[in-house]
Amino acid sequence: MRPGEKRAFRRDPLAYIDSLRHRSTTPVIRLPWGGYCVRDADLSQTLLRSPEYNTGKSRFFNDLLPTRQAQTEVGHAVRDFLRASLPQYGTELNRAVSELPAASRWPTAANTLVHRSLSHLLLHPGTPAGTRRSADRAARKGVFFHAPHTWQRARAEILRARLISALTDEVRHRRDHPAAEPRDLLDAVLHVCHRTEVTDRTAAELHLMMSRAIVVPISASLAWSVLLACLHHTPDSPWPWPADRIVRESLRFRPTPWMLGRTVPHSMEIGGVAFRPGELLSVSPYLIHHADGQWTTPDDFRPDRWSDPDEHGHYVTFGAGPYTCPGAAVAQTLLTDALTALTRDARLTVVGGDTRPVMAEGSVPRPFTLHRAPRCWGSDSTSEGGD
Ligand code: HEM
Repeated sequence: MRPGEKRAFRRDPLAYIDSLRHRSTTPVIRLPWGGYCVRDADLSQTLLRSPEYNTGKSRFFNDLLPTRQAQTEVGHAVRDFLRASLPQYGTELNRAVSELPAASRWPTAANTLVHRSLSHLLLHPGTPAGTRRSADRAARKGVFFHAPHTWQRARAEILRARLISALTDEVRHRRDHPAAEPRDLLDAVLHVCHRTEVTDRTAAELHLMMSRAIVVPISASLAWSVLLACLHHTPDSPWPWPADRIVRESLRFRPTPWMLGRTVPHSMEIGGVAFRPGELLSVSPYLIHHADGQWTTPDDFRPDRWSDPDEHGHYVTFGAGPYTCPGAAVAQTLLTDALTALTRDARLTVVGGDTRPVMAEGSVPRPFTLHRAPRCWGSDSTSEGGD
């Protein structure tokens, strides 16, 4: 990428990718940082769903699991565990929200809030205190969330190594003394990953990977939901939209996974370009969600579009086809519950936010301050946050 392009990308990554789309006339765009991206929404959808393009194991798990079946089993086991644990999540969430200061810095506050609400589901309270402390420290100090400075990233490597070592000991212990029912995400993973196929260390890595795969996009999506709703409504009255529609529209408007990468499995022609095996071809949920002709006024933030089926185009925040996110429905519930808890009896305003993202682990809002004050409008105003 040339320096001017780098600056333009950093200033506003989404405006940059939009300008690439508008300048291009072909269905597939060459990306300045390497690889290609599909420009056309229908072709994107076809590719995500095509068995020819999505063969074998999903890249999501790196090489941690031996087969596609093992990948699917882990995804479903974690999803089922989270779904069954929603009441415990609600209790911890309310506690974390009640301790939020009147003014908080986001998106960092979202990271803390979401991790606190989920930490006992990632590692249950009976786990040795040292291992839980190590996990909490990892979440706060750059192992979960991208750290901006080089020295922070170097420290994160050390914390990561310590956490994996502690988790590996814990996996060994739990495999010798298995639980009848999953008490946390580690048990859920161990229920489907047997010693003969997945080593103790790999199971530990898998636990960390899945913890991040849950906490990171939920935190960023919560920050987007709060920011976008505040920016698009006056603070003088309750938000006019139910919380679940705000979440869905935020996930459309600013999808945290803004690019889904695939390596082309074998020589093929796509959108007029001849691809060789191993070349990178991405599909962009952001471009798909902002495609003219697919959505009514795609560049407007309008939670109410979700009450009308004719307003919807292809919605791929959670992917589509064989590698679709198994946690999509539970993620929507976790987010809706969090937004509802934040707005319950409270009025939210933001200072300093704008809709341009930074690209860290996906698209994340730039820092803003959230003010949360006791609600002061009439007691019959009940629509905010969908309560
Ligand atoms: C807002 C929250 C979330 C977002 C935006 C999100 C998004 C995604 C996306 C886009 C993919 C597909 C990647 C691709 O096609 O390359 C994916 C895969 C996956 N997600 Fe999520 N996800 C979220 C939360 C969760 C949760 C709560 C779970 C817990 C079960 C989860 C588990 C997974 C797994 C296991 C996969 C891999 C699926 C496979 O390849 O078989 N995700 N996620």
